[in-house]
Amino acid sequence: MPSVVVHPASRVRGRLTIPGDKSISHRYALLAALAEGTTTISRYAPGADCASTLSCLAALGATIDGPGAANAHPDQRVVTIQGRGLGGLRAPADSLDAGNSGTTLRLLAGVLAGHPFESVITGDASLRGRPMRRIIDPLSRMGAHLRGHADRPPIAIRGTALHGIHYTPPVASAQVKSAVLLAGLHASGDTVVTERQATRDHTERALPVFGVSLTRANGTISLRGGQRLDAAEVQVPGDASSAACWAVAAAALPGSDVTLDDVGLNPTRIGFLSLLERAGARIEISTGDPVGDEPIGSLRIRHGHLTALEIGPADVPGVIDELPVLAALATHGGALRVTGAGELRHKESDRISALAAGLRGLGGHVEEQVDGFQVLGDRRLTGGTADAAGDHRLAMAFALAAIGAQEPSEIHHADIVDVSYPGFFDILAEISEP
Ligand code: S3P
Repeated sequence: MPSVVVHPASRVRGRLTIPGDKSISHRYALLAALAEGTTTISRYAPGADCASTLSCLAALGATIDGPGAANAHPDQRVVTIQGRGLGGLRAPADSLDAGNSGTTLRLLAGVLAGHPFESVITGDASLRGRPMRRIIDPLSRMGAHLRGHADRPPIAIRGTALHGIHYTPPVASAQVKSAVLLAGLHASGDTVVTERQATRDHTERALPVFGVSLTRANGTISLRGGQRLDAAEVQVPGDASSAACWAVAAAALPGSDVTLDDVGLNPTRIGFLSLLERAGARIEISTGDPVGDEPIGSLRIRHGHLTALEIGPADVPGVIDELPVLAALATHGGALRVTGAGELRHKESDRISALAAGLRGLGGHVEEQVDGFQVLGDRRLTGGTADAAGDHRLAMAFALAAIGAQEPSEIHHADIVDVSYPGFFDILAEISEP
């Protein structure tokens, strides 16, 4: 499925169960591998990224069963992981392949920094172009030896006995925070991370589920190294970033009405909901019982008249993965100005220039800035072609823009959606009305 044709839709309607969250699935799998006993993870995320984490953990000696077919119903996606205990992973026979997944590479580097063997983590062409100085610095300060080519993968890690540090990441990054905390589990003394801007807090919520005690206050997380992890039975909430796609489609098209069930409602992930409301969407939230300290619930989203949105540096970490779909929303008649989002240039693609190029290819009016962009939805898209540029979030954003166009559009390399949301195009077709 290298290219996909997306047809204009008049509206979207339906009720969907959102597949398991990618960020949380990575974390539960990693912690399960470090735990004593057998962990069961249900609703494991279906994308290739989370499969990469499992295959790396298997290569490090964890015994893993499941999770079955990527296109199975979320309820059928169950993984069991027999943990090896803290510091108990085995030297891999070969390089570890993180595929397209920055989270796999960066979090696993934190874990392997505390294991007394050499390992190499690499990935696909996109991942091999992404900056790793941000993890090399703190993990080296803790005592590990890490090397990359110009600070990019492959990353060679010589793990050792680590010591705790107090670290304030210079960039707002949940991956960096998590790498340091996971290394801290293996370190002597306390490891402390202070965030200048809050990022997704799934690691902090997941660690206590596996029996680790930590403290959190005013943006500072502190944990003592050497704690035992216990296996757990956990359920992964639906992926808020995947839910954001359908929320955007419903907000964009008059007459739309979509309900999304079992969506993760972690406050560090749902910044897009208040932005959609600000842009004019009508949203109802019904909260359910939390799973594994993660809030979940259902969302009902309906269209409302679209207005212009501004997203500044303070909002960016809370919607970092949703900026492409919010840009798509603006092409439907709103407008969006984003500043303070230079981090977008270091994602699976240079998400500022590839987003601008793709939306322009569909007939959009987009201006690119060094640390942001502006979309003016002052004319209906004509339709055209857009290249996903190896980036799953762009493939989905272009499709969500294209449903508002006058003519069908072609998204090139659209199969990259499998990284986080296999079946995305089938669902889009299912809920779209001509
Ligand atoms: C993620 C953190 C974010 C996000 C990525 C997933 C995570 O990356 O963009 O998709 O699971 O920790 P950064 O830490 O680079 O901001």
